[in-house]
Amino acid sequence: MLPEYGRPVTELLAELTALKEADLPVRGGKVTAYVYDTGLPEVHEAAHRAYAEMLEVNMLDPTAFPSMVALERQVVGAVAELLGRPGAPGVFTSGGTESIMLAVKAARDARPGATRVVLPVTAHPAFHKAAHYLGMEIVPVPVEPATYRARVPAFEAALDDRTALAVVSAPSYPQGVVDPVEEVAALAAARGVPCHVDACVGGWLLPWLREAGAAVPPFDLSVPGVTSISCDLHKFGYAPKGASVLLFRDAELRRRAYFASAAWPGYTIINATVQSSRSAGPLGGAWATLQALGREGYLELGRRTLEATRRLAEGVGKIPGLRVLGEPEAALVAVAGSADVDVFVLADEARRLGWFLQPQLSYAGIPANIHVTVTGVTLAGVDAMLEVIAQAAEAARRRGPAEVPAGLPELIASLDLDALDDATFAELAASVGIDLTATGQPGMAVVNAVLDALPATTREAILVRFLSVLYS
Ligand SMILES: Cc1ncc(COP(=O)(O)O)c(C=O)c1O
Repeated sequence: MLPEYGRPVTELLAELTALKEADLPVRGGKVTAYVYDTGLPEVHEAAHRAYAEMLEVNMLDPTAFPSMVALERQVVGAVAELLGRPGAPGVFTSGGTESIMLAVKAARDARPGATRVVLPVTAHPAFHKAAHYLGMEIVPVPVEPATYRARVPAFEAALDDRTALAVVSAPSYPQGVVDPVEEVAALAAARGVPCHVDACVGGWLLPWLREAGAAVPPFDLSVPGVTSISCDLHKFGYAPKGASVLLFRDAELRRRAYFASAAWPGYTIINATVQSSRSAGPLGGAWATLQALGREGYLELGRRTLEATRRLAEGVGKIPGLRVLGEPEAALVAVAGSADVDVFVLADEARRLGWFLQPQLSYAGIPANIHVTVTGVTLAGVDAMLEVIAQAAEAARRRGPAEVPAGLPELIASLDLDALDDATFAELAASVGIDLTATGQPGMAVVNAVLDALPATTREAILVRFLSVLYS
């Protein structure tokens, strides 16, 4: 693996290019998840150069590198201004998961003894991860069956003295709808419970959509009772990955997110984030993206995104066998199939046509669907996207639903997965025609259908197994 002698950079870059050939393309709008594309190459170029400029600065010690403090102040300040509380204290983190981890930690440490996190079933699994890491407990509440928004009476019933944090999303990822932030925040405040708004995907999008004419309900720090909010700049801020901001209502709560340790004979540890040593590259990239686009740039992207989302939702509604779930209020559209159009087969067919549509499994009574994240680049190709979805739906109708091998879900559910080694697990999958190394390629429908037929805890055990096999 490690060469005996150093290799020239041109050779290394050629190797990276070759390795990336099988990857999904990150630009162009045909991949409707994971990547956020403005469609403006000069903006991404500015971010890349600023990222490289700040790459070697270590955010471990702000006194050693004042440049990063200045940049972080600017970036956090811009987010606070957009999200209803200019000057609000915040932290620049590596992404939504880290922002959520810190919001949960701050809430836990602010209410000693309270260990429960109350959230809608549509909230991002980063909260489950945070609860798992921080020794807390999740209390899920259902969503309304027609709108997919958190059910307020259920929330009210779930909040009590043991609640460390109430969580709502603006919007939730699965169906792109905004939870009733004002109602839940008021209920939480009445009980002295902090309330976090997960605006990871919507924080840097909803304000621009509102300005472009969309009806966006209040969701930010201007809402009484909201005590923290997360906003990922590596999503609709269009910054390179590794960029999110977590804002707090006051500096006291932010201090609960910090960590300091003097319990060793080494250098002083004072961390604002989970990570200790970390590159300032993402901060430089985020700062440059904000500066390169400016207010007008984001508003224009908001206008395009709004139009593309409306056209997509309207167009999908006209395709036989498909329907949009709920009324998407942001730029995330979930499309369910029907008895004769299997969405997992549809996703495979779209992949054959060169488009990636993200499959989402059924959960808590919400049907399986495909998820499209509309970004700045989508508008230019929205007709082509609709054409592909229509063709893929037609092909899925002809092929019929993915066939789950008879008895397989029952067999898997009955297995003690911990007792199998990775090789046996891979063989078991191969014996029923599932190639675990063929990730992301056409032919995922059966895998998705099998997972869909299993309870969530078994899905989780399988996914961990899968990752282990992939890296073995
Ligand atoms: C609503 C929401 N919260 C949190 C996250 C987690 O963000 P990340 O993948 O940056 O950790 C996501 C990611 O899509 C999200 O949509």
